[in-house]
Amino acid sequence: MKHLIDPTDLTVQEIDDILDLAIDIINDKEKYQDACKRKKLATLFFEPSTRTRLSFEAAMMELGGNVLGFSSADSSSTAKGESVGDTIRTVGCYADIIAMRHPKEGAPLLGSFVSDVPIINAGDGGHNHPTQTLTDLLTIKREKGRLNNFTIGLCGDLKFGRTVHSLIKALSRYEGIKYVLISPNELRVPEYIITEVFKKNNIEYKEVTTMEEVMDELDIIYMTRVQKERFFNEADYIRLKDTYILDKSKLKTAKPDLSILHPLPRVNEISTDVDSDPRACYFRQALNGKYVRMALIMTLLEVTV
Ligand code: NCD
Repeated sequence: MKHLIDPTDLTVQEIDDILDLAIDIINDKEKYQDACKRKKLATLFFEPSTRTRLSFEAAMMELGGNVLGFSSADSSSTAKGESVGDTIRTVGCYADIIAMRHPKEGAPLLGSFVSDVPIINAGDGGHNHPTQTLTDLLTIKREKGRLNNFTIGLCGDLKFGRTVHSLIKALSRYEGIKYVLISPNELRVPEYIITEVFKKNNIEYKEVTTMEEVMDELDIIYMTRVQKERFFNEADYIRLKDTYILDKSKLKTAKPDLSILHPLPRVNEISTDVDSDPRACYFRQALNGKYVRMALIMTLLEVTV
């Protein structure tokens, strides 16, 4: 039995297979409509979510399966003091697979140690978000036609942004990717990413503080929200929250085939005047999230059609 806790729990081959399956699902949805008939997915969300939880639920429904779960810790026995381990053991009696989001780094990993069913990390604190990474990879593959040889700019809260950490880990295994890390000094990517991923694998990266200075170099720009809920001090959040706002004028020097990604939700990082630009991929990206989760659920449940 396999869990998905960290994006590197999947080999490059397994990721490529999941993306290929997602593309097949997109091309022939009817073929998969009963793939998970009589199977149940539990979504245990101890933190807010719109896209991740609903796309997981929609994914299972489109596979002919059923869903159960909760969307806040207050409405579960966590409010009575139950441990993550006991919650997971219990839910494993009712569901075939579990997607779990938790504010504490490592909580889904802990859950996986005691679980009798596959656990999917749907976001653990500021650490990882592997299913957003699968969503991002499918989006890049569909927009660019490849997962190698490009320059990606990651912009915003690179310190607390779990989607950024997971995306870097996964992409670093593909050839010819250059990283431009755009953040204020306080929100730079954690040191372990620099040493364990970039330096260890001899990957080209640079750190800058403005998007204007690098815009013309980028094939992809991945915008992120400043992660308000991870700040210790509200004054710091207020000072940093609007550091980067991508608008039409900043795109003047951008490549004509730039792809603009954002895991969403956006706050102010992308002005709505960018939404109608064909290079804006973020709502297509949200849709890809459903298809890639369908492919992931099938893979972890080992069902085929
Ligand atoms: C992201 C997350 O939860 O980390 N959202 C998502 O799952 N699409 C990004 C964010 O909240 O900023």
